[in-house]
Amino acid sequence: MYIVQIASECAPVIKSGGLGDVVYGLSRELENQGHTVELILPKYDCMRYDHIWGLHDAYRDLFVPWYGGAVHCSVYCGWVHGRVCFFIEPHCEDNFFNRGCYYGCSDDNMRFAFFSKAALEFLLRSNKRPDVIHCHDWQTGLIPVLLYEIYKYNGMWNQRVCYTIHNFKHQGLAGSEVLKGTGLNQEAYYFQHDRLQDNFNPFAINLMKGGIIYSNAVTTVSPHHAWEAHYTEVGSGLGHTLHLHQDKFTGVLNGIDYGFWNPESDRYIPCHYSIDNFEEKQKAKQALRSQLLLRDENKPIVAYIGRLDQQKGVHLVHHAMYYALSKGAQFVLLGSATEPAINDHFWHEKNFLNDNPDCHLELGFNEELSHLIYAGSDMILVPSNYEPCGLTQMIGFKYGTVPIVRGVGGLVNTVFDRDYDQNKPPEKRNGYVFYETDFEAVESAMNRAIDLWYESPKEFEQLAIQGMEYDYSWNYPGKNYVEIYESILHK
Ligand code: ADP
Ligand code: GLC
Repeated sequence: MYIVQIASECAPVIKSGGLGDVVYGLSRELENQGHTVELILPKYDCMRYDHIWGLHDAYRDLFVPWYGGAVHCSVYCGWVHGRVCFFIEPHCEDNFFNRGCYYGCSDDNMRFAFFSKAALEFLLRSNKRPDVIHCHDWQTGLIPVLLYEIYKYNGMWNQRVCYTIHNFKHQGLAGSEVLKGTGLNQEAYYFQHDRLQDNFNPFAINLMKGGIIYSNAVTTVSPHHAWEAHYTEVGSGLGHTLHLHQDKFTGVLNGIDYGFWNPESDRYIPCHYSIDNFEEKQKAKQALRSQLLLRDENKPIVAYIGRLDQQKGVHLVHHAMYYALSKGAQFVLLGSATEPAINDHFWHEKNFLNDNPDCHLELGFNEELSHLIYAGSDMILVPSNYEPCGLTQMIGFKYGTVPIVRGVGGLVNTVFDRDYDQNKPPEKRNGYVFYETDFEAVESAMNRAIDLWYESPKEFEQLAIQGMEYDYSWNYPGKNYVEIYESILHK
């Protein structure tokens, strides 16, 4: 099969979170399973060019129809750790992707509507006719709409679309100017409840809703989250739309790319280990301590790695930090906040805790350091309010780092409580789960984990090894996606 992935991120070259990991990891797995995969991405000025090999301009004059005129673009081609990627660069005065950031501009809807249009125009002009176009999140929600309403009349009638929703919170609400820009000219036609009109705001179109309605298959990133999105407020207003399209909607649990996340070969950690020589993990712990200046050598390390925002349960992260210290553990946080109030808060905490030898806060995005933290910590905390899948607990497993998580979304599908999970035999349990969003809940799970670490180190090690025994690679989800692609090929 020939599959083209169109997305706003691809790790490690463009990554703000798990979307990037998934786009890269799934592509690699599909190739391993014998399929041809290409990726189309925006050419951001701030992406990690050091992860691209052989970047060259592959298609110099792409004229993308836009507001009745055309925007001149170049398309660059390069290899991101072996994957063929095409990067689109518009040459207009206000280049959409030379903003020093991936997201967060007031015209994000326009930027990614343009990207969607340009990606299809590139496929059309370069005579690429994939069997399946796989697009991701609100940024590419317009792709199936444009394909069906415009490009199918230009010769792309045979392409099928699989659309994956990673986060229902961000749906891409836009005004009619996005329709005009992309050539979807009949405003009244699109502003209808069974088309792109937002379910809450009748004056806005919803790009994600367009993606759901017009795609041949729709997925989200774990089975439990598929249920939540359908039946609870986690669907952020799209539950009814999902209900109408339930025949084509499923949850496929993400995988982890064990080529990149693997303590046996990780290029960013100073020692290598597996279940067979688990004691080597101690060297990573020492390296982490010496890099982050954590003094005491006889304490467990609890880590948090992730965005600092409401989704991730920042109030619990903050509380857990002090609770860990009070329980005789060390705490390491690597996180980035986009909301100014949260950012200021954690900078304040960082300054306040600056001289504390049991705590380190690293604010910002740091891929290399994240690997050392996964390897060097004993426990990883994921206290999310909601979590479509969550990758940090699965990466934690691979590195023998025991997750302490809130039982929501994909965390329910991956973490099984050591003391209470009745559906798993003790030897299959792999972490700690709590359910409420209050401080007592997170405290009680942390208590159990930290106490076991102190009182019964062998049992704690056994729990970590049970987590390592799980296979959360892309192998199985990759097959799942191939089945979905095959099921839509001839529809
Ligand atoms: P989300 O996509 O919601 O942010 P996930 O758990 O799916 O959360 O994926 C987060 C990914 O981003 C993981 O690979 C994690 O290691 C990485 N990550 C998150 N924050 C940072 C950071 N500040 N520095 C480095 N890596 C980070
Ligand atoms: C989203 C979700 C996260 C998921 C990731 C990759 O950003 O917040 O739960 O793991 O996408 O699918």
